[in-house]
Amino acid sequence: MTSTAITVVTHPLINHSLTILRDKSTQTEEFRRHADVVSKVLLIEATKHMLLREKKIETPLAPFAGKKLKDDVIVVPVLRAGLAMLIALRDLLPAVLVGFIGLERDEKTAIARAYYEKIPKIFSTHIVLVIDPMLATGGSMDDTLKAVKGKGAKRIVAVSIVSAPEGIKRVTEKHPDVPIVTAAIDSHLNDRAYIVPGLGDFGDRYFGT
Ligand code: PRP
Ligand code: URA
Repeated sequence: MTSTAITVVTHPLINHSLTILRDKSTQTEEFRRHADVVSKVLLIEATKHMLLREKKIETPLAPFAGKKLKDDVIVVPVLRAGLAMLIALRDLLPAVLVGFIGLERDEKTAIARAYYEKIPKIFSTHIVLVIDPMLATGGSMDDTLKAVKGKGAKRIVAVSIVSAPEGIKRVTEKHPDVPIVTAAIDSHLNDRAYIVPGLGDFGDRYFGT
């Protein structure tokens, strides 16, 4: 099996918006707006290998041999923070099929507990995007990748905004077939398994809890 490809997306819009997300003085409204910008740029990168088919159309002036997306995409946001990235993807691919997985980390152990799962039937031809803004220990991503593989997924891309080396290592070792697209790989996890420097608790900051 080939080893995991890790893409750290560098783009001025990501640098700008991610700094605003990291800033502890950023309030909910701004946090949401910049989470959307970062998510869109990451998702454009994550879908760049989608296949196209020919589509003949007529412009107002002449026939034109155009292109149409051939691949069908299923997105699986990890509840609840993954919803932030779903909004960005829905703008890019309005017809995307959506599966959900609900995972919540125990505050003491940082081990994720599953509380919800609804994933559509996945065919081997589908591209499955697993979206979760924070890849910390990698436990939530590992569980989600196992779940989507159990439903038949073969072409998967994991997308996170901020990753820790620990999470990258876990996903890389357990899922060498799954490329990771992220905006940053930070320094380390602290003793509560939060990413340092990170941006704090993404879900709490995005949802204003
Ligand atoms: C956060 C985040 C990821 C998970 C990452 O979710 O959104 O899902 O932690 O951590 P891991 O890599 O160590 O598993 P959290 O459990 O805080 O739930 P929330 O999305 O409801 O805020
Ligand atoms: N989840 C978050 O929201 N932030 C972290 O730093 C780690 C997990």
